[in-house]
Amino acid sequence: MCGIVGYIGKQKASAIILEGLKRLEYRGYDSAGIAIQKNGRFEVAKKAGRVEGLIKSTPALKISGTSGIGHTRWATHGGVTDANAHTHLSSDGKFALIHNGIIENYAGIKKFLLTKGYTFQSETDTEVLCNLIAYHYQKEPATTEGSRFLECVRKTLRHIEGAYGIAVMCSDCPAEIVSARKGSPLILGVGDNEYMLASDVAAIISRTQNVVYLKDGEILHLTARDFSISTLEAEDVSPVIDRVTWSIEDTDLNGSAHFMEKEIFEQPAALENTMRGRFAEDGSTANFGGLNISPVDFRQIDRFHFLACGSAWHACLVAEHLIERFARVPVEVDYSSEFRYRNTPLGKNALFFVVSQSGETIDTLAAMREAKRKGYMVLAVNNVVGSTIARESAGGIYQHVGPEIGVASTKAFTSQLLVGAMLALYIGRMRDMSFSDGVEYVNALKGVPDIVRRTLEQAPHIREIAKRYAHYHDFLFLGRLSLFPVALEGALKLKEVSYIHAEGYPAAEMKHGPIALISENCPSVFLVPSGEMFTKVVSSMQEIKARKGRIIAIATEGCELPEGVADEVISIPACHEAVLPIVATIPMQLLSYYIAVELKRDVDKPRNLAKSVTVE
Ligand code: F6R
Repeated sequence: MCGIVGYIGKQKASAIILEGLKRLEYRGYDSAGIAIQKNGRFEVAKKAGRVEGLIKSTPALKISGTSGIGHTRWATHGGVTDANAHTHLSSDGKFALIHNGIIENYAGIKKFLLTKGYTFQSETDTEVLCNLIAYHYQKEPATTEGSRFLECVRKTLRHIEGAYGIAVMCSDCPAEIVSARKGSPLILGVGDNEYMLASDVAAIISRTQNVVYLKDGEILHLTARDFSISTLEAEDVSPVIDRVTWSIEDTDLNGSAHFMEKEIFEQPAALENTMRGRFAEDGSTANFGGLNISPVDFRQIDRFHFLACGSAWHACLVAEHLIERFARVPVEVDYSSEFRYRNTPLGKNALFFVVSQSGETIDTLAAMREAKRKGYMVLAVNNVVGSTIARESAGGIYQHVGPEIGVASTKAFTSQLLVGAMLALYIGRMRDMSFSDGVEYVNALKGVPDIVRRTLEQAPHIREIAKRYAHYHDFLFLGRLSLFPVALEGALKLKEVSYIHAEGYPAAEMKHGPIALISENCPSVFLVPSGEMFTKVVSSMQEIKARKGRIIAIATEGCELPEGVADEVISIPACHEAVLPIVATIPMQLLSYYIAVELKRDVDKPRNLAKSVTVE
């Protein structure tokens, strides 16, 4: 939530920062702001609304300073107004600051600063930070040793409770930026005679692929010539410069209308990347290089716990089903935000997986820390390389699907389903799954990209259905067993991008309450697999039809649906049970996407949402 960018170098900073902000807008898009430093003066422009609006309305952006900071906001404290947009200035005008996170003890600090004569222009928690820095700076004697600016930021942060990724400029230090993180992401891009800081690689990738991932409690000091990293306790840190493997093209639309569309259609390649190099030579099981636990120790695990939020939580529910079905090991799935505060009894030989596309979701990070505190090993399933969750886990599985920019998760979700299916195979083969069942399973997984490609061919048909159904206000999504979490995901996707109310239910549960919603005005999307559940699901469909409900059936090819039971049918290829949730997801993604387009929604930036939820 919120994106921060900073630049210091030889080029005009405003254009570079604005470009970075546009690429970070998926993190928050309530308001945007920028501050450029020139000749010891700040030029600040900020505005409620999108970055584009800021650019159009602000002549100040033409200024030519070569250092500056910028912010795109997802509001927490204070409404969406120009005044609450960042950058914030200290009341003496000496400091300009941007912030991603929440300052929990801001009220007490504000009270203190008011008694000292500091004034506040916004309702944000952030503004106390720059005034507290100003307070320490004014008290601190000028010194030639070290940077007074840096030391005052350090001193200030020692008083701060909460989460932050910040960047600060001081009018006395025209070519310096100080930046720090705790709980919110922060990276440094090391370019050619220039440095950039940002919440995320997307903001800097057009200028450099050399990146330093900062850790919690670290402070970055940038000048036009060099940089240094130290801790809150003033210990020097030796930076490790990593090379990002993806490039600027991965963050462009490349001809698609929206990132959501692009990412839906990228799924065959993305899933291929998730699997690459991850099957054993004998072709009967999966192979994970980064688990950092020996197969012998892994074999001792008698209970798995999965923690995640949102779509990732749905992926965990599917993993639970597949691991229990194919490996016969109990699995518990918790919302990260609930696990933290529940006192769940945990077994002796349990292992945790945290699943997070971004690797920055604060609830999942906190839940992971709680599991670690209790002495458990925690592995991560994560897409963003170098994320906090990846770094704090004992090991894990990178998804390798490239940057996911659309706020609604698509390719990252199906990749998480795939990782879950591969884990079920890996654990299953350590137990009762036979060699030949393993080979059949592996071959099915290898066929996923192709089967997803074939499913995507249904897009024109689904688009026509979307046009007919876009005007409904309520939907039910119904599925059974591993397709129940997929129904939950279908409902979530529709809600997120089209703002249509939708609920996911196990198909047979529908008659215990939700059936009261059914009328000709509330369509149901049924996931109808072939096999043992087919007749059961069809019975549920008949119950809806008897109450005049309209039905969109996503059904396995070759299933003989009784005449008249479905108003619309979307066929999906027949496939292995472990692959079915992935394949069944695709039509629901397309349906949500096309309905949202039909309703002219802001598909990639739905209202009130942000891609990476870094506040509790
Ligand atoms: C839904 C969606 C969210 C995320 C959730 C967790 O489309 O994107 O529900 O799945 O916020 O995010 P990560 O996976 O980054 O932890």
